[in-house]
Amino acid sequence: MTSVLKLNNVGINFGGLKAVDDFNLEINEGELFGLIGPNGAGKTTVFNMITGVYSPTEGEILLKGEGINGLQPHKLVKKGISRTFQNIRLFGYMSVLDNVRVAQNDEIKYGLLDGMFRTKKFWREEYEGITRAMEFLKIFNLDRFKNFSANTLSYGDQRKLEIARAMASNPKLLLLDEPAAGMNPQETEELMETIRLIRDKFNITILLIEHDMKLVLGICERIAVLNYGRMLTQGLPRNVINDPRVIEAYLGGSNA
Ligand SMILES: Nc1ncnc2c1ncn2[C@@H]1O[C@H](COP(=O)(O)OP(=O)(O)O)[C@@H](O)[C@H]1O
Ligand SMILES: [Mg+2]
Repeated sequence: MTSVLKLNNVGINFGGLKAVDDFNLEINEGELFGLIGPNGAGKTTVFNMITGVYSPTEGEILLKGEGINGLQPHKLVKKGISRTFQNIRLFGYMSVLDNVRVAQNDEIKYGLLDGMFRTKKFWREEYEGITRAMEFLKIFNLDRFKNFSANTLSYGDQRKLEIARAMASNPKLLLLDEPAAGMNPQETEELMETIRLIRDKFNITILLIEHDMKLVLGICERIAVLNYGRMLTQGLPRNVINDPRVIEAYLGGSNA
């Protein structure tokens, strides 16, 4: 098995608070991996370190064996890491289609003059970009809303649009921060299917943070549990959720 992401003894301090401490994680190519734990455990902070929002104060993060500590977020997108956010971050007044297209910017190859004079090359790339963006929108059943402003979509659809946008940069590793938050059970069910589908169709590796246990148990092949910034346990979902320490962490924590 090829390791896609490896965290070696990773830690970060926020002015005295150790938000994440001595954290080790290895995720293999094609895996659908879940990161769970009570509120404030440090899950989003782990994502922020992997995506270059924060630089770890200790340890090492490896992407396919290459050290990526301290690289800026846009460089990491180029290296194939893409994410969604716990709090939706869309361009609310832009169209659904344009929200996906902004994430394709790095792929555009036409030059300034092509753009100014609207050459054949310009139109061909525009056309190809739109076609690809529409394919992602179709996967999430959002193609019918392509011309709507993003902020007119339902909460569940906005979450799906964020994933479609994250896919537009052709990631190898996709990080989803609470993708089902605010969704009703039927939307969650559909989302589960779609997450599995994009993993299979695009051959990507997915790491997701989620509170919805049905989703976690339904699609994750392995899960890791964070508690107070430390790894509590990891392994197969069934084993992990029946671990008394995990039950205690949830019942004793703020997220009961
Ligand atoms: N930029 C920051 N500055 C200070 N403290 C932070 C910062 N980001 C996160 N934290 C703290 O780190 C801890 C973990 O937060 P977070 O990673 O958001 O938890 P989770 O996603 O598991 O709910 C919390 O105590 C939080 O207040
Ligand atoms: Mg969080």
